[in-house]
Amino acid sequence: MGSMVMARPVPARKGAMSTVSVASLTGPGAAAHVRTFTLTARPARLRLGAGAVVDAWTYNGTSPGPTLHARQGDLVIVRLVNRLPVPTTIHWHGVAVPGGEDGVAGLTQDAVAPGHAYTYRFVVRDAGTYWYHAHQDSLTQVPRGLYGTLIVTPTPPRIRDDVDATVVLHTWQIRGKDTLAANGTTGLLRIGARAGARVRLRLINMDVDMHVVTLVGASFTVAALDGHDLHGPQPLAAALLPIAAGGRYDLRFRLPARGAAGLLLAGDRRDAPLHAMPIVAIIGTGSFLPTHAASTHAHGLFDFTAYGTPARGAITLHTRADASYTLRLGNLSQHGFSAVAHLDPVYTINGKAAPDTAPIMVRRGQLVRLHIVNESDYVYPMHLHGHTLVVLARNGRPLRGSPVTLDTLDVLPSESYDVAFRADNPGIWMLHCHNLYHARYGMSMMVMYEGVTTPFRPGGAAGNVSD
Ligand code: C2O
Ligand code: CU
Repeated sequence: MGSMVMARPVPARKGAMSTVSVASLTGPGAAAHVRTFTLTARPARLRLGAGAVVDAWTYNGTSPGPTLHARQGDLVIVRLVNRLPVPTTIHWHGVAVPGGEDGVAGLTQDAVAPGHAYTYRFVVRDAGTYWYHAHQDSLTQVPRGLYGTLIVTPTPPRIRDDVDATVVLHTWQIRGKDTLAANGTTGLLRIGARAGARVRLRLINMDVDMHVVTLVGASFTVAALDGHDLHGPQPLAAALLPIAAGGRYDLRFRLPARGAAGLLLAGDRRDAPLHAMPIVAIIGTGSFLPTHAASTHAHGLFDFTAYGTPARGAITLHTRADASYTLRLGNLSQHGFSAVAHLDPVYTINGKAAPDTAPIMVRRGQLVRLHIVNESDYVYPMHLHGHTLVVLARNGRPLRGSPVTLDTLDVLPSESYDVAFRADNPGIWMLHCHNLYHARYGMSMMVMYEGVTTPFRPGGAAGNVSD
C-alpha cells in the first residue's frame, strides 16, 4: 500500500487576503531568453556496458535523460510527453519554480495520463547544478530511470572552466545485484580533458542512499553544494565526499601536466587504501592509477560546517526568525509501536507518518527556522521543495566556514541541524526525505503558504501518487 500525502484545506484568515489556487501560480508566458525542450517519457531497453541490459523508463530513450542547459534568468519551457503505460510528472529538484510548476502529482497538478502531454514553464533564478525527476509514484519511477540533469550557468559568466562535466550516480538492479552506473554506464566512465585543463566536475547522487566518493590525482575545491557556491573554498587532497541522496557537489580542479584524475567510490570502506576503491570515472587523457596518488589513503571526511570562509551579510544562528518549528525524525518500530498492524516500517516526523504529519503554515516574507533532530538509526536526506535551506548549526554548533545553502540536507543518526528558509515563493510545498522509500512510508510533510489552496487530490481519476 502506498501512503499518499493528503492536501489539507487551508483555512482562510478572517478578513485577510483572498485565496489563490496553486494551479494559477505559473511561470511567465514570454521572456527575453527562452529555452524550449521536449522530454518524452517512454520505456526503452538500455545497454549499460559489460553486457548489462535493463528495461528502463527513460526521457527521450536515455537514462539519465538529456542534460538541459539554460542560462540564469532564462525562461525554461519543457513539454512532457507521456508514452509510459502509467501516469507521470516532472519535478525540478532544487529549482525555485513557481508553485504550480513543481510537478507533484495530487498537489500541484494531476499526473499526466499515458498518451497525454503537459508543459512546465519557469524562470531559472539561480545558477547551479540541479536535476529533474518524476514526482508521481517516485519510489517506482525514479529507480526505473526517470531522471536527468539541469545545469544553469551564471549570467554574466563568472568563472571559466575548460571542461564542464557531470557525473550522475545511479544504482541499477542487474541480475538481482545492485550495480552502480555513472552517466548510464556500469563500465569505466571517461571524461576527456587535456593535460593542465581546468575542470568543473558536477557530481549528482540520483540514488536513495548516500554515496561517498573521492577524487585523486589532483587537489580540488568544493566550489558549490546543491548548486550554491561556497565562499573561499580551500584546496583538498583525497577528501572523502559524502553526497546525500538527491544532493550535488561541484568540484573544481586543474589536471596535472601528466596523468589523469580519478573519481573513486569509497562506499562503506572509507578506511580502505585508495587502490582498493572502485574507479567510477577517469578525467583526462593520461593514464590513471590510484597508486600514483600522493597518498595511499583518503584524507578524512569532508565537513561543510568547517570549510571555506565566512561571508558578510549571511543569515546566521543570531538572525531573528519569524517562526520556528522542531521536526523530530524517527522510525516507529524504535518507539515501542511494533504492534502496528502492517509489516512496512514507518518513518515519522514528530511521531506522525504522512498523511497525518502536521503541515507548517507560513506567510510570505517570513524567515522560518527549523530544528531538525534525527532520533533513529537511519540517514534522512531531507529535501524542501521550492526553497533552499540555509544551514545555521549542526548539533548546536554554528558553522565556522562558508555559509552553506542546501536543498537536500543529510541528517545522520542522532544529529541535529538548525536551518532557515525565507518564505519567498508562494505555493504548497513538500518537505520530505529523499530516501524515496522513507518518503513513501511516512516521512513527508508540507509547507503551506496562507491563502494558497489546491484543487488536486491524491488518488482520484488521475491516479495521483504524490511521493
Ligand atoms: Cu527530488 Cu520531492 O523531490
Ligand atoms: Cu529517509
